[in-house]
Amino acid sequence: MDVSMLALLAKTTSLMEYLGFLWVVQTGLELDLWTEMETASSLHEVMVLHPGWDETLLEHWLEQAYYLDLLTKREGRFQATKLARAINNYKNLGLQALYKELMGHWAAGFAELPRLITKQREKLKIGSDMEDELISKASMASEPFVWPFLRTKCQKEQWRKVLDLGCGEGRYLKRLADEFPELQGVGLEMNPIVVGRARERVQDCEGRVQILCQDILALGEQENPFLKEFGPFDLCLLNNSIYYFSQAQRIELLEKIKGLLVPGGQVGILTAVRQGDPVRVFRTHLPQNLMSFFLACHQGFEGLPTEQEVTSVLRQTGYRDINISVMPLGTSHYFFAAQGADEG
Ligand SMILES: C[S@@+](CC[C@H](N)C(=O)[O-])C[C@H]1O[C@@H](n2cnc3c(N)ncnc32)[C@H](O)[C@@H]1O
Repeated sequence: MDVSMLALLAKTTSLMEYLGFLWVVQTGLELDLWTEMETASSLHEVMVLHPGWDETLLEHWLEQAYYLDLLTKREGRFQATKLARAINNYKNLGLQALYKELMGHWAAGFAELPRLITKQREKLKIGSDMEDELISKASMASEPFVWPFLRTKCQKEQWRKVLDLGCGEGRYLKRLADEFPELQGVGLEMNPIVVGRARERVQDCEGRVQILCQDILALGEQENPFLKEFGPFDLCLLNNSIYYFSQAQRIELLEKIKGLLVPGGQVGILTAVRQGDPVRVFRTHLPQNLMSFFLACHQGFEGLPTEQEVTSVLRQTGYRDINISVMPLGTSHYFFAAQGADEG
């Protein structure tokens, strides 16, 4: 057999393995089977719990999960492996939303690619379930890598007033307020449903964190009493939200942010980047570029920014001391820069 044919066969086989993983994990999450399978159970025992389910399909799910090292099998009983337990432990930190997004939206969106590239159809629209839930929740998946970095930086820089633009679930503000008792924060989020969840999350912060339902682009159009009361800010975060804006809008936004910061105040832009350098071992540049590709299929999105685009927009708007930190495993980049003229 031709070597290239063999290579193609190997790729196709591993593709099917990955697709199987996606479908099996997502189904287990939706039906809460990962919790159930923490106790060793036979097909019959699972069927007793769910008499209305399709036995043949459930049997296939168990078998497939076994082949994917998600379940062990002993004497006819299946049980969750460490990997499957990790799914359960990590599900509320963005994993469940990410898998739902991949299965429900990425597959259907990329199926339209031939028509999108040839402009036979208009670009896709971001669905309401994506806007109301999946995007902000899936974004939490990068938090375990990002939070230790942000905490250390906040300790060093002694930020006390933080503005978070596109704060989503409000988790960074909540963690900052919990960790630093004097810190005050304001989060801006345009989606009212996401705002509701964020407000619930920060309600035990003794009023030190306020979540406003407001469009970032409307900043400065009318005076906001909260921003006036809480500001000016030591730090303005744009965590995983820069890709919502075109390069021209980023310039406009960074200009407005300067007016909300104390002299020397900083902006922190967290984003996955397009065309980043290949990362070994976990190859996280591949999903980053795929995410960019997926975003670009949608109306109003151009994909993720490149590292160079972010630094250039910071320079153009007069920020100095640009510092870029690559998050662990190369999951995303954190750009920090200070407002104000160069010292010395
Ligand atoms: C990917 S999520 C990131 C959430 C959070 N910053 C994080 O890193 O986990 C981006 C959030 O920005 C919000 N957003 C996007 N454009 C916005 C705008 N113009 N004004 C306010 N919020 C916006 C979205 O609704 C979404 O919840």
